[in-house]
Amino acid sequence: MTTNHHTEPAQSKTDYLNEAFIRNPHPIYAEVREQESVSRFLLPSGHYAWLVTAYEDVAAVLSDSRFVTNHPVEEGVELPSHVEIISRNLSNVDATDHRRLRRLVQKAFTPRMVDQLRGRIEELTNDLLDQVQAKGEMNLIEDFAFPLPIKVICEMLGVPIEDQDKFSDWSSAIMEGFNNPKHAERSEQALIAFIDYLQHLIARRRSDLKQDLISDLIRVEEDGDMLSEHELYAMIFVLIIAGHETTVNLIGNGVLSLLEHPEQLEQLKNEPELIHSAIEEILRYDGPVEVNNMRLATEDVELQGKQIRKGEMVFVALASANRDDNHFTDPNTFDITRKVNDHLAFGKGIHFCMGAPLARLEGEIAISTLLRRMPELRLKTNRESLNWRHGIIIRGLKEIPLVF
Ligand code: HEM
Repeated sequence: MTTNHHTEPAQSKTDYLNEAFIRNPHPIYAEVREQESVSRFLLPSGHYAWLVTAYEDVAAVLSDSRFVTNHPVEEGVELPSHVEIISRNLSNVDATDHRRLRRLVQKAFTPRMVDQLRGRIEELTNDLLDQVQAKGEMNLIEDFAFPLPIKVICEMLGVPIEDQDKFSDWSSAIMEGFNNPKHAERSEQALIAFIDYLQHLIARRRSDLKQDLISDLIRVEEDGDMLSEHELYAMIFVLIIAGHETTVNLIGNGVLSLLEHPEQLEQLKNEPELIHSAIEEILRYDGPVEVNNMRLATEDVELQGKQIRKGEMVFVALASANRDDNHFTDPNTFDITRKVNDHLAFGKGIHFCMGAPLARLEGEIAISTLLRRMPELRLKTNRESLNWRHGIIIRGLKEIPLVF
């Protein structure tokens, strides 16, 4: 008889998938932080993983090189070639590989480049609002928050306008497949079409470089080092995927939080310059990434008295860290004038969101323009009838019907 030295530690009884949790996870995270801030939970796949919920521990895990994002492929599992290509992207590699990729892309994706986009983001924002202004109502997600970021990133990359709808469809289909295995087949087809398209677009750019991010990514070179063809696909993929669903919900969750706090909404309308701290507060109070990308322990690590063993999966709950009362004063108060706000909505450490300046700019322009052009906006239904998306990675609403 063999003895099992790896007895499974006690599991949390918390049900992270029930409707009440999805509507409002914060009271439950508060209990979990209080009772067992590092706990075991069951993934939908049937595997167990660790969930880390307190601010200081979340920050520590994200800054600790013993926790990596680079997932070894299970023995005997062969990934289809296109999945393998995009899985070696910036957010899934660590240490030297990560430093090299991040340095190369950072040369193309500069704060100056982002700032130059301001005028164009304003135009795209106004175009979308022009289409609904006369109707007096809209679905904030479908009509505004969803199309805006994909248009911005497509323009930045240099994807021709006539192809942008295809890009948007592929991006949604690929994401659906990650969120729900039922959609895996459609997702894979979308991925094949996406890579095929990129191959042609990149080939065209190689022979005729332009002033766009794809051309800049082709151009970047440091000490003779460049991005390979596959690395280019993976980089473009991660820029689109990482920046899309997230920014949609920065706008959606932000507008909802403002509508739920009318005195804060009034203050923002009267003092539009508060938009910068308002965006930071939206990110803290109800940020788009509820639980961050998975980490794997490369060695045994003790955290809050718990033994995390080499090879075990660790998830950090950014949404919980951002409401931790051991770190923030009155964490459940939505205060757009909050002065000290070192939230973790963009992560921390080497994988800190590369698109943060772009996301902030898009959020600021989208929400300020909306409030200026539709100052009377309000929810068309009551809050209880709004549907939240399922899953604990992305936090956001399926639709937000507004009248204005
Ligand atoms: C409000 C919007 C956004 C939020 C809340 C957000 C959040 C995050 C978070 C939490 C991470 C860290 C992942 C980890 O630690 O494993 C991350 C990474 C990343 N984000 Fe964002 N993101 C947003 C928008 C964007 C945009 C607009 C882009 C680009 C167009 C972008 C590109 C990236 C990339 C490339 C990474 C990987 C960085 C690395 O691994 O070095 N994000 N983001």
